Amino acid sequence: MPRLSVVIVPRNQIRRRVGELAAEITEAFGNRGLTIVGVLDGALVFLADLIRRLPMRLELLTVGVRSYRGRDGTAGEIEFRHRLRTDLAGQHVLIVDDILDTGATLSAALEETMSHEPASCRTCVLLRKKRGRGGSSLAGAVDFVGFDIPDVFVVGYGLDFDGRYRNLPDIVALQQVGGQPR
Ligand code: XMP
Repeated sequence: MPRLSVVIVPRNQIRRRVGELAAEITEAFGNRGLTIVGVLDGALVFLADLIRRLPMRLELLTVGVRSYRGRDGTAGEIEFRHRLRTDLAGQHVLIVDDILDTGATLSAALEETMSHEPASCRTCVLLRKKRGRGGSSLAGAVDFVGFDIPDVFVVGYGLDFDGRYRNLPDIVALQQVGGQPR
C-alpha cells in the first residue's frame, strides 16, 4: 500500500478556493436556476462544500462513473454505475467533478448530460492535473477550475486510492513506488 507523501493543497486553501469558485459560478449563472450534475464518488466532498456556498435555486443530480486505466496511466474503460434518471430539457447544467486527468471521465459525464439536451452545460473541476504527453484535450475547455496540480496521484477531500483516504481533509500526494499507484 503506497504511503501518504506531501500535502498538495491544504484544507484552508481548499476552503478559500471553494468560496471563490462559488462566487465565479454565481456571477456566471446569476439568478437563473441551476442543475448540478455531480460525478460520484470522487466529487462527493467537493460537491457538498460547493453547493452550500451557492445562493441560487438549485437542483442536485448525480452520475456514478468509474474509470479504469492502463498501467502507463492512459485512459481506459469507463463504467457508469448509475446514469442520469431525468430529463434536462431547458435546464442550465453545471457538471462538477473532482479531478481532470486524461479527461475520459469528464467526457463521459458530458456526453451523458448532453444526451438529455439541456439548455446549456458548463463544467467545473476541483483539480486539473498538468500532464505532458497524453494530456486531455478537455483541459483548456473546463469552465471552472479549482487548482492546477502536478502529475502526481493525490488522495483526500473525497479522492481515494483503493477505497481509502477519502476522509482526509487535505489533498495529499501518494508516495510513488515504481510509478503511479493507479
Ligand atoms: P480522467 O483520466 O478520467 O481521471 O480524467 C479522472 C478520474 O480518475 C481518477 N483519478 C484520480 N483519483 N487521485 C485519485 O484519487 C488522482 O490523482 C487521480 N487521477 C485520476 C478519479 O476517479 C477521477 O474522477
